[in-house]
Amino acid sequence: MLRQTKYLSSRYNEPDGWSLSAYERDGGYKQAKRVLGGMTRDALIEDMKAANIRGRGGAGFAMGVKWSFMPWPPKPEKPHYLVINADEGEPGTFKDRTIMEKNPHSVVEGCIIGCYGIGAHTAYIYVRDELHLSKERLWGAINEAKAKGYLGKNPFGSDYAVEVFVHTGAGAYICGEETALLNSLEGKRGEPRLKPPFPAQAGAFGMPSTVNNLETIAIVPTALEMGGDAFSKLSELHNLKDGGSRLFGVSGHVNTPGVFEACVGLTLRELIYDLGGGVKGGKLLAVIPGGSSCPILRADDLVSAPNEKSPLFPWNGKSVLDVPLGVDTFRALGTMLGTCCAIVLSDQACPVLAMHNLMRFYRHESCGQCTPCREGSAWIFRIMDRIVAGQASIEELDRLSEIADNIMGNTICAFGEGTAMPALGFLKKFRREFEQYILTRGKSSPNRLTLPGHFAGAAE
Ligand SMILES: Cc1cc2nc3c(=O)[nH]c(=O)nc-3n(C[C@H](O)[C@H](O)[C@H](O)COP(=O)(O)O)c2cc1C
Repeated sequence: MLRQTKYLSSRYNEPDGWSLSAYERDGGYKQAKRVLGGMTRDALIEDMKAANIRGRGGAGFAMGVKWSFMPWPPKPEKPHYLVINADEGEPGTFKDRTIMEKNPHSVVEGCIIGCYGIGAHTAYIYVRDELHLSKERLWGAINEAKAKGYLGKNPFGSDYAVEVFVHTGAGAYICGEETALLNSLEGKRGEPRLKPPFPAQAGAFGMPSTVNNLETIAIVPTALEMGGDAFSKLSELHNLKDGGSRLFGVSGHVNTPGVFEACVGLTLRELIYDLGGGVKGGKLLAVIPGGSSCPILRADDLVSAPNEKSPLFPWNGKSVLDVPLGVDTFRALGTMLGTCCAIVLSDQACPVLAMHNLMRFYRHESCGQCTPCREGSAWIFRIMDRIVAGQASIEELDRLSEIADNIMGNTICAFGEGTAMPALGFLKKFRREFEQYILTRGKSSPNRLTLPGHFAGAAE
């Protein structure tokens, strides 16, 4: 059942929808005022837990639970920080940018509430430098809020000081990984840190910190206004603790690519055909569900739930296109929900060229810190290059799987899995097409269409 919503995106089409006056016209900043006006931290966290907001940055961790990990009470010598991840480097993902450009005050209000919830007085929003309009709109919103007395020493007349800053990154995919982001924020090289310690123990500047995706924080005022439980129940997957509404992106071979807001539980079929306007130039071949790091699904895949305990049980035997998009449902399908921004491939696309393109991106973006990732991503790309050049043998497909398997679990951060999982996914789902491609030196695949847009050739 297609249930579009208009919370974050309610003013996306208004020319001044990003301004403070427009935000306040829709009830903006009332929740920040309420929270700072005397809501207890426990009540706030309980409401956020009830909202079942799963992190929108890719891993799908429960937001309220993450806030509750912060040490309490804060010690004066150990200030807490809220860090907002707006790096948005995942290929095919462009949802946070729409919030920054069209609804920046929801981020600032979310930061005020978030700071209160985790005992921080400072929030940093980490944005990649090339997003000029995003930075301008965020700084504009911060300055407008400050001028009105919503930020600073005594926001809304309270004695809970909050400051929000925008910090720019130079545009490296790895700086979206939370600990690499923290290093970059501190002015160090953007390389991931070993965990533990986790950011809640030692994050920004060695102090307890919470890192949240920008959409995760921007939806907080809405959830609070509605009440956590009511917000959660918007979702068809409420019982799986995956609540509310969120932004869904769709790009690639669709007629109307874009970002749409809907209740959690929307299906790929609805996203592609109802919101994305249907497949462009051919029939649906496959979908990468949530950013390029998620293993690909074939359109002809059917659900096969192992038992009644599986989150997929109600959809057993149905097409994967009819499974509600959720963190646990898509994990059970053997892929991931990721950023919830799907990349669509029509049957005019060549899966070999699509994987070649993706692997160029990962080879380029590996930070090089861990040998399996640095060498493995380059090795995978070299073999893909040989396949595309008609120089590879079928045996090299097994070599590809072996290299990817050896990256998995052997790196400091999840970039390694983000490279290996899509590679293994393509090889598993399109083994026949890869073999044909190698045997015919590419003649089996006359369609030279690769993935369009965001990351086509972007890595060189
Ligand atoms: C290589 C890599 C890149 C990532 N890029 C982003 C990103 O651009 N934005 C983001 O919010 N999370 C990104 N993440 C996930 C973050 O590490 C982290 O889980 C997230 O910011 C937590 O926020 P959330 O709990 O609100 O989702 C990335 C992870 C990895 C491994």
